[in-house]
Amino acid sequence: MYDNQDDPIQPKSLEKENRVLNKKLERSEAERRLLETHIASKEYLLKKVICELQESRQELEQRSRELENTLHRLHMVQGQMIQNEKMSALGQMVAGIAHEINNPVGFIYGNLRHITEYTHDLLRLIQLYHHYFPNPPAEIQAERQAIDLEFLEKDAIKVLKSMSIGTERIRDIVLSLRNFSRLDESELKAVDLHEGIDNTLMILQHRLKATEKSPEIEVIRDYGDLLLVECYAGQINQVFMNILANAIEAIEEVNLSKSYQEIQTAPGCIKISTTVVDSHWAKIAIADNGTGISPSIQTQIFNPFFTTKPVGKGTGMGMAISYQIITEKHRGKLEVFSTPGAGTEFVVSIPVHQ
Ligand SMILES: Nc1ncnc2c1ncn2[C@@H]1O[C@H](COP(=O)(O)OP(=O)(O)O)[C@@H](O)[C@H]1O
Ligand SMILES: [Mg+2]
Repeated sequence: MYDNQDDPIQPKSLEKENRVLNKKLERSEAERRLLETHIASKEYLLKKVICELQESRQELEQRSRELENTLHRLHMVQGQMIQNEKMSALGQMVAGIAHEINNPVGFIYGNLRHITEYTHDLLRLIQLYHHYFPNPPAEIQAERQAIDLEFLEKDAIKVLKSMSIGTERIRDIVLSLRNFSRLDESELKAVDLHEGIDNTLMILQHRLKATEKSPEIEVIRDYGDLLLVECYAGQINQVFMNILANAIEAIEEVNLSKSYQEIQTAPGCIKISTTVVDSHWAKIAIADNGTGISPSIQTQIFNPFFTTKPVGKGTGMGMAISYQIITEKHRGKLEVFSTPGAGTEFVVSIPVHQ
């Protein structure tokens, strides 16, 4: 009886329960969907933020690259300004000194010819006296011995010769200084580059010469037919000066650790070769057998202020300025080839016509 009473109720309550459950399911399904769209929109937002962050990071990177470039350019300009100022002050001073030396040297040089002539005349006259009066009075004979006339006759001519060689050297140096100091010459002119190289070598002569510690640095000139090259002569001379000075310094560094004898068996050497390529390009190669440059440094040597030399010795501006003069001012090329321990070659190429 109990069972009978219960039977009809059971499906009904089950149905009800089922409906309740269904409702719940529907609700939680709706909640899930809502949550899902919520998450999707959050995800979208997050992605957008990440995207924006990436973009702004790229922008920042770009900015910092630009800043770096600007800083680099500023460094370059600053260095160039200092160097220009120095060179123009130096140029003016050199020109002034050259001018001042030129006059007195001119007196000496001009008068040496006369004094040589007079000396020859006087010596001839003495010989004539001697010929016709072989036995002069005792006082004259004593004086002849006292001044050692025979030696004096021979030596006077030698003295005058070496004085004339000396003054010619001074004149050459003054001429080189004058040519070299034409740095401010701002006009483009067709010049003989060999003359520029020779002038520069003349100025550097004292650093090539033999010293107590090392024999002379040999300079080999292998000049081709360069003809005239259109350029800013003073600036190009400055490039030669910078490259040659570095070559000398690299050789000096190698010599530091060697004895005189060791250096003598493998002396320092700088070779300068010039050629015309395709009749449009003047090519000047300057090679030394100095320290060489390690590959990791080769890319840096043209950077302003990069130097491997001790403080006070190197400014690190020589190559940076040279690079700018060649590539920007003359639309040419400045290349470096080097083997550490063997030597370095710098090759300057500039168009024959600008
Ligand atoms: N011929 C060379 N041999 C070896 N190293 C060189 C040579 N020329 C340039 N360098 C290297 O390049 C650097 C930069 O040269 P430079 O700009 O002239 O500055 P600085 O001579 O004042 O150091 C030098 O410090 C040196 O390390
Ligand atoms: Mg230098």
